[in-house]
Amino acid sequence: MSVRQLDARTVTALVADATAAPSMHNAQPWRFRYVCDAHTLLLHADLTRAMHHTDPGNRSLHIGCGAALFNLRVAAAHAGLPCTVHLLPDPADPQLLASVHFTPAEETGPPEPAPPGTSARLGTCTPGAPAAPGSAARPGTSAPAGQDAAGPAARASAGSRADAAGGAHAPAPALGSAADAAGGVGAAAHAGPGRGTGSDAAPATSATQNTVAPAAPAASDAPAPGSGADAAVGASASAAFDDRGDTEDLRSLYPAIALRHTSRYPFEERDVPEDVRGALVDAAEREGAELLFAGTWHTEAVLELVRDAESRDAIDPAAAGDLARWTRRGPDAGAAADGVPEYAFGPRPRDGRSPLRDFAGRRPVPDRGGAAFERHPHLALLSTHGDTPADWLLAGQALERVLLRATGAGLATSLTSHPLERGDLRMLARDPVSGLGHVQMVLRLGYGPAGPATPRRPVAEVLEVTQRVREV
Ligand SMILES: Cc1cc2nc3c(=O)[nH]c(=O)nc-3n(C[C@H](O)[C@H](O)[C@H](O)COP(=O)(O)O)c2cc1C
Repeated sequence: MSVRQLDARTVTALVADATAAPSMHNAQPWRFRYVCDAHTLLLHADLTRAMHHTDPGNRSLHIGCGAALFNLRVAAAHAGLPCTVHLLPDPADPQLLASVHFTPAEETGPPEPAPPGTSARLGTCTPGAPAAPGSAARPGTSAPAGQDAAGPAARASAGSRADAAGGAHAPAPALGSAADAAGGVGAAAHAGPGRGTGSDAAPATSATQNTVAPAAPAASDAPAPGSGADAAVGASASAAFDDRGDTEDLRSLYPAIALRHTSRYPFEERDVPEDVRGALVDAAEREGAELLFAGTWHTEAVLELVRDAESRDAIDPAAAGDLARWTRRGPDAGAAADGVPEYAFGPRPRDGRSPLRDFAGRRPVPDRGGAAFERHPHLALLSTHGDTPADWLLAGQALERVLLRATGAGLATSLTSHPLERGDLRMLARDPVSGLGHVQMVLRLGYGPAGPATPRRPVAEVLEVTQRVREV
């Protein structure tokens, strides 16, 4: 069997799209490794970028990485590259958050033409440094995606992202500190099965169109068993999902990857139409999560929790330490490749009703004016049924799906995780009447100025390409 591989340029482009995802304080806590022989891209947590005080259980870290994984799925669909995703494929290695196996054409049947203008190449893969952005695709065996890209297989029975999260591998150990001290609901305390398998199992959402199937790489692709990475690339024991039933919707989201930026500006006092709200709720459901638009009472309650969290942080030196580490001011703002630059802080809120983290804290920022924010912000809460690392990855994918849809619908967005970082406040954020499960993120949506683009580290810093899984 001829083994065709993604070339370095294509892998680089996919990872560049993945890293456009939001992450807490723009810490970009991810690393990628492409294993050529196995056609598999591995997503790892980068614990050097964890926030031990603000995010002691690494919940937010997983959410950011889940968002990056979702962008990767969108970019793969856009490029006409079918793939199979495993969440937490190796129970022995909790830093390995996901593996993405790109299906060679031999495994799937006749090729599906990729959309015109896409960059997919199935050609030689050279271990070492990833291709520089903009460099030419490697000559030789590269071929346009339309000729080589793997085609769709018959759709298997519908499942959900939650099924994959709750597969045989669900009780993965948590990263970092054992317990989510702030939330009291961290992975260690809740390391039972995720949705779909445990006592809190919920039915798969009917809107979910993704295929769930046991992953069985072709015999020649599977590395010899042994190391944790081997298991991840082989991944035959864990549940998997692919997007073959969902390609069109994923492709339609691609342009929004580059357009989505957090906007910490005031939004208009204008309603978000029902059909747009419905589309965002649907986006969350497709990933196995729930999006709930807060009513008047609930909005007031969440605003109060944000203010509470702000005032606690104002007198907490450790919180100030995380903020100082991840904010970029003065000349650093233009030069840094990570963190939140001062030009993205937005104006200082004058009326105290905006659910925004003030990244300046008490520090002066030259030329930063104040502004009155909307009196009636549109807040939506993203929740999951479980609260394990797999649920956080699921939440990250759902978050990014919602954000990309919102961006495509002309909405500006910002996020606040502030009240969710303290266990007592997080409990109160849930709508006691209709809210399910565990709140993972508070979104603010509306019509207003787009936020500025913030920097990302070069792909070469976050991507490693190896021929075989054992080369590390
Ligand atoms: C888990 C998570 C938590 C976040 N929490 C906040 C927050 O509390 N306040 C805020 O203004 N932005 C928050 N953000 C947004 C990030 O600051 C933002 O994504 C990052 O600075 C990159 O900027 P961008 O979204 O414009 O690409 C959060 C993002 C994630 C993924």
